Amino acid sequence: MTISIKTAADVEGMRIAGRLASEVLDMLAAHVKPGVTTDRLDQLAHHHIVNVQGAIPAPLNYAPPGYTPYPKSICTSINHQVCHGIPNDRPLKNGDIVNVDVTVIKDGWHGDTSRMFIVGEGSIAAKRLCNFTYEAMWKGIVRVKPGARLGDIGHAIQTFAENAGFSVVREFCGHGIGRNFHEEPQVLHYGRPGTLEELVPGMVFTIEPMINAGRREIREMTDGWTIVTKDRSLSAQWEHTVLVTDTGYEVLTVSAGSPPPPAFVTGQQPAPAAVGH
Ligand code: MF3
Ligand code: CO
Ligand code: CO
Repeated sequence: MTISIKTAADVEGMRIAGRLASEVLDMLAAHVKPGVTTDRLDQLAHHHIVNVQGAIPAPLNYAPPGYTPYPKSICTSINHQVCHGIPNDRPLKNGDIVNVDVTVIKDGWHGDTSRMFIVGEGSIAAKRLCNFTYEAMWKGIVRVKPGARLGDIGHAIQTFAENAGFSVVREFCGHGIGRNFHEEPQVLHYGRPGTLEELVPGMVFTIEPMINAGRREIREMTDGWTIVTKDRSLSAQWEHTVLVTDTGYEVLTVSAGSPPPPAFVTGQQPAPAAVGH
C-alpha cells in the first residue's frame, strides 16, 4: 500500500464529508449536559447522519482485523477513557470530560473529527488538559506543508504536551483517510524532526493526539474496544482531518460550530477557551 494523493475532485468530496462530520458535533454540543446518556448522543448522531445528511456512520459495524464489529455510530470516551469508548446507558455527570468522535461517509468519502466536551462545571485540571490537547493538535496541524515530514508533526505535539507535564499515548495514531476509514500513512503524535514520510500536496490524514494527565500507558477493556489509562488518569483527544495543500494545510473537518484555532495560529488575541460551558 502507498499513500493516496487526492485530486481536486477528490478533495471536493472530502470537504463535504469533513464538514458533515463536524456538523454532527455542532448538533450534539447542545445535548452534552449532566444526565444525558451516551446512548442518547449516539441515537441523535445516527439519526442526523442517516436521515438529515444522507450519509453513513463509519464506525457502525466497523471491524478491522482482530476486532469484533463496533456496535455504535460514534465513539464516546469519558474521563480516563482514551479512545473508542462505546456509548451506553449511563448518564453523564457534572465535571465529566467526554470525547465525541464522529466519522461519516458521504459519496464514498470519509470525514473524521472529534472534540472534547466538559459536562457542566469542569475542574481546573480537566479544563487545562482539554485546552492543552486542543493546542497540541494545532501544534501538529501548523507543521503540515509540502516538504515537511511526518516526524515534524509528531515532534511538535510531543514537545508541547510533555512540556506541559502531560504524556502522549503511543499505541494509537492519526491516519490517512479517503475512500477508506484508515489508510496509510500512520501519523504518530510523537517523534523526531526530519524523520519519516515527506508530505506532498494532495495527501489527506488525521491528526488526533491522545494526551494523558498522568502516565502514557494504556490498557484495553474486556469489551474489546474501549482504551483506558493504566493509572486511571484523565485523558483528552481532539481530531481534525487535514489536507496538504501546495503551500501548507487545509483543515477539512470545519463547520459553523468549529472552535476557533488557538491564538498562536491566527495571531489574534487569545480566543475564548476551546471548551465551553
Ligand atoms: N474515529 C476513530 C479514529 O479517529 C476510529 C474509531 S473506530 C471505531 O480513527 F470502530 F471505534 F469507531
Ligand atoms: Co481518526
Ligand atoms: Co476519529
